[in-house]
Amino acid sequence: MTHYSVLLNETIESLDVKKDGIYVDATLGGGGHSEAILSLLKDGHLYGFDQDEFAINLAKDRLKRFDNFTAINQNFEFIYESLIERGIHEIDGIIMDLGMSSFQIDDKDRGFSYMQDARLDMRMDKHQKKSAYDIVNYASLDELTYIFRVYGEEDFARPIAKKIVETRPLETTFDLVKITDQFKYKQRSHSAKQVFQALRIAVNDELGVLERTLPKLVKLLKKDGVISVITFHSLEDRIIKHFFKTNSENQIPKGLIVMNQAAPLLRLYNRKPILPSEQELKENSRSLSAKLRAAIKNV
Ligand SMILES: C[S@@+](CC[C@H](N)C(=O)[O-])C[C@H]1O[C@@H](n2cnc3c(N)ncnc32)[C@H](O)[C@@H]1O
Repeated sequence: MTHYSVLLNETIESLDVKKDGIYVDATLGGGGHSEAILSLLKDGHLYGFDQDEFAINLAKDRLKRFDNFTAINQNFEFIYESLIERGIHEIDGIIMDLGMSSFQIDDKDRGFSYMQDARLDMRMDKHQKKSAYDIVNYASLDELTYIFRVYGEEDFARPIAKKIVETRPLETTFDLVKITDQFKYKQRSHSAKQVFQALRIAVNDELGVLERTLPKLVKLLKKDGVISVITFHSLEDRIIKHFFKTNSENQIPKGLIVMNQAAPLLRLYNRKPILPSEQELKENSRSLSAKLRAAIKNV
């Protein structure tokens, strides 16, 4: 059940935690990063968000010794509105550790794992209507192909999608694995790895939510406040990299000379992403694809 907090020291260092600061953990999970922030706070406060009720309860229990911690069971898309409602208009730092917690993958009934047979689900927020079952059984051939090709970088996207459409209805994770096995019996990693990743991203609209949320989070940051993001997927990393890059450059057309040029919104903490150490990789194979990027608000 325990979740290894990825790039823990590197993330906390990038946040440059102030004792009396207000911090946000957008992806509370098991509460590992939050615990590290809380242990550096004195008069400050930490607001932790997770759309998964199970994660909220787990983190609440782990962090119950801190009275300056508030857990909020909400999608991080609503952090801005949620904090404004609570009278919080400015924060000193925010951390996002994207993707899933180990306990979500390990819980058989959630349908995230291709290693266990369960109803096709993959919703991080159990109150959400759309599940993997709906996508697998009702999406068009083109939609399925797009999801597998783009979100899963799956070479067999079209044939797998076609077979799904011919075989539907599919009820369980193993029904889907039976299909991926037909096409990918030669490769070393599990045949369903990319298809499951793609479906999870689609079910939870992970990329759309991320893109919509970033500008609102930066709006909340104080001058010199920090946003630190850990990604596990090249598409997520591309969104962060692009957002940080465009907001850390002055948007002035080439050749135009401007007097008293205003500073860009952000400055980069690191030009190249920070990767897990050899030691971390040895201890936790899940860190393998992790990348940390951080940026600091200028104005
Ligand atoms: C990798 S885990 C975080 C682990 C945590 N940093 C720790 O050290 O224990 C990611 C968590 O983010 C949550 N999550 C993912 N997308 C979310 C979203 N859009 N809104 C809120 N929570 C989200 C997941 O439910 C999961 O619990």
